[in-house]
Amino acid sequence: MQVEVIEPHGMCAGVNGAIARALELAKSRPAGDRSPIYCLHELVHNEIVIGELKDLGFRFVDRIGEVPRGATVVFSAHGVPPQVREEAARRGLKVVDATCPFVARVHRSARAFAEKGMEVCVLGDPAPAEVRGIVGEVEDAGGRAFVGPHGVSAAKAKGGAAPLGVVAQTTMNSDEVERAVAELARARRVKTMAKVCGATKDRQDAVRRFCRGAGPGAGVLVLGSKTSSNTRRLAEVAEDCGAKVFTAGDVEGLSRLDFSGVGRLGVTSGASTPERFFMEAMRFLRRVPEHVAIIMDGNGRWAKARGKARSEGHRAGAKTLERVLDWCGERGIRYLTVYAFSTENWKRPKAEVDGLMALFARMLKTKERDFVANRVRFRMVGRRGDLSPKLLSIVESLERKTEAFERQLIVAISYGGRAEIVDAANAAVARGEQVTEETFRRHLYAPDVPDPDLVIRTSGECRVSNFLLWESAYSEYWFTDTLWPDFSEADFDRALESYAARDRRRGGA
Ligand code: FPP
Repeated sequence: MQVEVIEPHGMCAGVNGAIARALELAKSRPAGDRSPIYCLHELVHNEIVIGELKDLGFRFVDRIGEVPRGATVVFSAHGVPPQVREEAARRGLKVVDATCPFVARVHRSARAFAEKGMEVCVLGDPAPAEVRGIVGEVEDAGGRAFVGPHGVSAAKAKGGAAPLGVVAQTTMNSDEVERAVAELARARRVKTMAKVCGATKDRQDAVRRFCRGAGPGAGVLVLGSKTSSNTRRLAEVAEDCGAKVFTAGDVEGLSRLDFSGVGRLGVTSGASTPERFFMEAMRFLRRVPEHVAIIMDGNGRWAKARGKARSEGHRAGAKTLERVLDWCGERGIRYLTVYAFSTENWKRPKAEVDGLMALFARMLKTKERDFVANRVRFRMVGRRGDLSPKLLSIVESLERKTEAFERQLIVAISYGGRAEIVDAANAAVARGEQVTEETFRRHLYAPDVPDPDLVIRTSGECRVSNFLLWESAYSEYWFTDTLWPDFSEADFDRALESYAARDRRRGGA
């Protein structure tokens, strides 16, 4: 099955803004403050996002009356009617308004129609918070609203000379909105601001384009929660175009889908679906590993074969690493760990060791801008105390500057798998802990990083050489004769293809 990304897809500016406001609020709480932050309705309709916000102390309520007096309440991206704002003020609540700016614009238009004495038809599903907010706006201005598909026939039946104001829920199917407006315009005079939001329309149009290009029998996978209106609309658009439609809200749901018979699959996601999940889904579908680790071997032999100094082999190896990091980004691989210097490498001649340390320092300093521009988090694993104070300060400064980024390059320097296990054991003993696999893991150098799925070793050596001994217990290995400086994109793809074809049973039957 050919798997293709449908662009654009995923989070829109309104959702991003709402989540950013909520996260800011959680961050601004004084240390140790565990009081809940209330949110009226789901901030955005996505279970992954809601789960993460709950972990940060958010509590979701359906009625403003459930928020204790004086507490902080966030209004969701879908907006609230003016009556709710008034009640929040009466109860002395601290309000953080995360309403999407486009939804707020629809509120203003609906209100302006009502204030001019016009009846208003709200195209959309009557149940969701967004439509209730718009209707509340019309009623607060003393107007009358016709809602939903029934609203269209009721508004048509009314006829009359006075123009009808028409607005739409921002996440409607854009074709449906056009049809409803045309139908109303045939029956009576209309003034309309009935447009779905630009991001919604762009995502729906991208699905239509994919389906037209892919032809009959194509599949469309829509990622997002069942509660998300714009996600459901994307599925409807694909179905209208004749595609076979699949939906999933998480990886477990995805793993239950049966794509047999689908030759070409386009993947899109709703405006509230995190890109992390999208990338995870792409990796799952294309069977791309999440974490690749590499033993970059053969720099010395590469240099020797060319009559060059070993230091030139290491410099060429550093260039290969830069390329591999880009290939990982292009393929959705989130973690790349590389073995740059082992605890045993200190035994090498002093000139080579000094040259390597100088190369690390130079590369990390000069590449800082690229790490930030490409949003790559840099981390070191290994015995930090073995590094010179100058190199350590370069390493730690780069770690601080890039710590917010999701994609990661983890460089093992003065690293040994046995040393890591000993260091973790000592840390556990110092805390008087009962050791289990889980508690032990917390003391590894990068405990939050998942174990490598695939370990690659270049230069024809088929050894583990003290690399990630704990973490690679169930990793797949791939060896190549290519020396590290010559390691090409084709070599990398061969390793990934080999990985994709393997059945990882992890000891199961
Ligand atoms: C093993 O080849 C390679 C190393 C010990 C050094 C690897 C370092 C780099 C590629 C530079 C990376 C730079 C940064 C900033 C992380 P070898 O010297 O043992 O080769 P040989 O087996 O042919 O002698």
